Amino acid sequence: MVSSRPHIILSAAISLDGKIATITGDSALSSKKDKIRLHRLRSQMDAILVGKNTILQDNPMLNVRYVKGKNPIRIVLDSLGQIPTSSKIIQSSHQIPTIIAVSKKASKKNLANLAKFPVDVVIAGQNKVELKRLLRFLHHKKIKTILLEGGGTTNWDFVSQGLVDEVVVTVTPYLVGGNKAKTLVEGDGFSKISQSLRLNLCKITRQNNELVLYYN
Ligand SMILES: NC(=O)c1ccc[n+]([C@@H]2O[C@H](COP(=O)([O-])OP(=O)(O)OC[C@H]3O[C@@H](n4cnc5c(N)ncnc54)[C@H](OP(=O)(O)O)[C@@H]3O)[C@@H](O)[C@H]2O)c1
Repeated sequence: MVSSRPHIILSAAISLDGKIATITGDSALSSKKDKIRLHRLRSQMDAILVGKNTILQDNPMLNVRYVKGKNPIRIVLDSLGQIPTSSKIIQSSHQIPTIIAVSKKASKKNLANLAKFPVDVVIAGQNKVELKRLLRFLHHKKIKTILLEGGGTTNWDFVSQGLVDEVVVTVTPYLVGGNKAKTLVEGDGFSKISQSLRLNLCKITRQNNELVLYYN
């Protein structure tokens, strides 16, 4: 069957207790070895996608630095077009293609701020970014593979709409705790195990103190 949307791999480093960050938003969970593995995977993808809070909290570059390889296109979900233009992702948009997906709720002022940089602003949705609409657009733009790099809120939106094809998680040797610390998948959650997304474990690798689990 020919797919009408990109293939989506959800990727994250999690603590042993399933958190992707501490209560203060510290997400420095993975080892250097894991960063090298992640960057190799990034270099094989057409795009990386994250939610706005990940930009606000981590200010990531979302590029390929730990290995030699091409940078994927970077995509941020930001319904109101609020991400700071001082963020690394906007500041480096001259070098690496960057898409900011917004909704019709984004103000003219925010759009004008973003327009000062060579970012592609895509309006997909009324109040919030509508993923299926966005993915149709990205598919049209020949983006065939997306690495979904969180955070938990964005992961839930993809999982709940049946838009995750594979999961690659690095289980790191930390017990983080905190009932408000973000987990791999946030949102309302499924009410029954029978309704939740069930995957098949297809590969495990060990990197010193970490396990990398591959599900599809
Ligand atoms: N360990 C790891 O591998 C890893 C990876 C990534 C992130 N993190 C951590 O995760 C935390 C952030 O996670 P988070 O759950 O708070 O936020 P998030 O998923 O990064 O961002 C969520 C925000 O994205 C925007 N958004 C726009 N359209 C959306 C849509 N269709 N679905 C979902 N979100 C949409 C929403 O803001 P608007 O409504 O304003 O648009 C939403 O509040 C940070 O602490 C970061 O460090 C960890």
